[in-house]
Amino acid sequence: MSLPRVPDVLVVGGGIIGLVTAWRAAQRGLATAVVDPEPGGGAAQVAAGMLAAVTELHYGEQTLLGLNLASARRYPDFAAELTELTGHDLGYRRCGTLAVALDADDRAHLRDLHALQRRSGLESEWLSGRDCRRLEPMLAPGVRGGLRADGDHQIDPRRLAHALVAACERTGVVFHRAWAERLTVVRDRATGCVLGDGTALGADRVVLAAGSRSGRFAGVPDDVLPPVRPVKGQVLRLTVPERYAPFLSRTVRAVVRGSHVYLVPRLSGELVVGATSEELGWDTTVTAGGVYQLLRDAHELVPGITELPLTETRAGLRPGSPDNAPLLGPTELDGLLLATGHYRNGVLLTPVTGDAMAHVLTTGELPDEARPFTPRRFRAATLTEQPA
Ligand code: GLY
Repeated sequence: MSLPRVPDVLVVGGGIIGLVTAWRAAQRGLATAVVDPEPGGGAAQVAAGMLAAVTELHYGEQTLLGLNLASARRYPDFAAELTELTGHDLGYRRCGTLAVALDADDRAHLRDLHALQRRSGLESEWLSGRDCRRLEPMLAPGVRGGLRADGDHQIDPRRLAHALVAACERTGVVFHRAWAERLTVVRDRATGCVLGDGTALGADRVVLAAGSRSGRFAGVPDDVLPPVRPVKGQVLRLTVPERYAPFLSRTVRAVVRGSHVYLVPRLSGELVVGATSEELGWDTTVTAGGVYQLLRDAHELVPGITELPLTETRAGLRPGSPDNAPLLGPTELDGLLLATGHYRNGVLLTPVTGDAMAHVLTTGELPDEARPFTPRRFRAATLTEQPA
């Protein structure tokens, strides 16, 4: 009788980041297992799925932009490969995005964003309010102008998660449908994890991909624990009845009184409206205030929204990091790697994360585009901090 093989890689967390890591690792011949009570769950069940490297650009995040663009470029092939392997339609829609301004302040903000996009070599076009409404007739008459970004697309994250579970199954990834309680460390090396029922799972390497929970995974030494925190986002789902279709033909977004609001129309008739951004720890309550804020802001952009059935309200937790960028690759603890901290860009960064993690797991080195995102960057910052 042969003993069961200890996997080369044990991925803690079966959200889209853990799943893509496992799938790509297994494709490269590594025996891979995933621990998660509900693979395919997590923040992807709430996310809108914007692939928005251009319209989600922020000052100070040009390094992250490079990774976002690298992943956006991979999306067509990634989606085609996943669909071919699993037969799943991912709702990948190359529909473009329109970011609009409702008042003079929003317009100035959008003009600044346009200048930053141009300096960063990104393609976007400034449109008058009238031209915005010509593209999207449901927009409010008060829209003062906008930015058209034809390269910012969307995918349905729930379908993506479902397809990644199927891809993992087809590629021989083993699933342990249970909670991982804590990491096991023997002689300064990560050796696996212990499940909620006390079962110990061994592995040559462990990848911590537990989203916002990564920052508090028991057993990880304090100086290695990733600085990842939960950032709550409330999201609404509405349905566009046939008689109103097409309600919107592309993603429409804006900053209204300092809050981001976006409307993501799916071909299925689903319209996703998001999202709040709240630093409230582990709270995932859907609040009257959150729903009110989203509907109020969305209504200012697209008044007809109040006619649509409201079919779902939900809150999820983004894994926020100190620089809003992910943590990818080896840690200071031998045998422990991270794939977490993707914050607002988890869906967009799924293809590049899978490739980078499979590369580092097979070669020991992060590929060039992922090197700036080593978890060690935070350790270096801590070690060079001077006492006051
Ligand atoms: N990327 C959209 C969000 O985090 O709300």
